[in-house]
Amino acid sequence: MKLYHALQSQGFGTRKNCVARVRAGEVAVNGVACDNPEAQVDPAQLELTLDGVTWPYREKVYVLMHKPAGYECSHHPSHHSSVFALLPPPLVQRGVQCVGRLDQDSTGLLLFSDDGQFNHRMISPKKGVAKVYRAVCADPVSDAMLVALRTGVQLNDEPAPIAALACERIDAYTLRLTLAEGKYHQVRRMIAAIGNRVEALHREAIGNYVLPATLPPGAWRWLEDDDLKQLEQSPKNRS
Ligand code: URA
Repeated sequence: MKLYHALQSQGFGTRKNCVARVRAGEVAVNGVACDNPEAQVDPAQLELTLDGVTWPYREKVYVLMHKPAGYECSHHPSHHSSVFALLPPPLVQRGVQCVGRLDQDSTGLLLFSDDGQFNHRMISPKKGVAKVYRAVCADPVSDAMLVALRTGVQLNDEPAPIAALACERIDAYTLRLTLAEGKYHQVRRMIAAIGNRVEALHREAIGNYVLPATLPPGAWRWLEDDDLKQLEQSPKNRS
């Protein structure tokens, strides 16, 4: 692969920009400066350094973010900032998408990838990858509410009642809810359907992968192979 092409594939600009950046001496290949855009590079062992940052070549990217409140999962946000503004520009340029959205007020585990098949596996209801949410409710959560969420609640525009895979009360006002699907505003609508209201919503986990406690709101990090396996496994604790 030619160097300018490797740069373009990793989100460092148009072909013309990438050629110009190499010619301007802005790029190092595996730690060695290279000003020939046509130089052959091996993607299997390639680290590109630009602006003092080293980027291992990745054919596809998988990233997680601790989404903060007040950000929209959209490239064209209407009222708030975009979550894409929290990612480095090369990731956005190479076309990563949100893998299942969170509402602007929701917080927690948000995935991004440019691998369409991965995105599909994560969000397709047929694959049933579980999403685990912690919801703080406006009113105390009664036993009857728990039973209703476990047995199924009817949402507008849905052909049949939808049940949580698991549902537990953490304290009088707080629920942990595991869902197999990711329908529009699903948690808020399910909790409204039992006569309560969500005041705060946080996604704790997807599959078996739990948002790392060390990742602060607004921060992102790469997902590695082990993380990807955990994402596609069923959660360990169900109630
Ligand atoms: N369900 C919701 O209602 N909102 C979210 O952000 C995620 C799931």
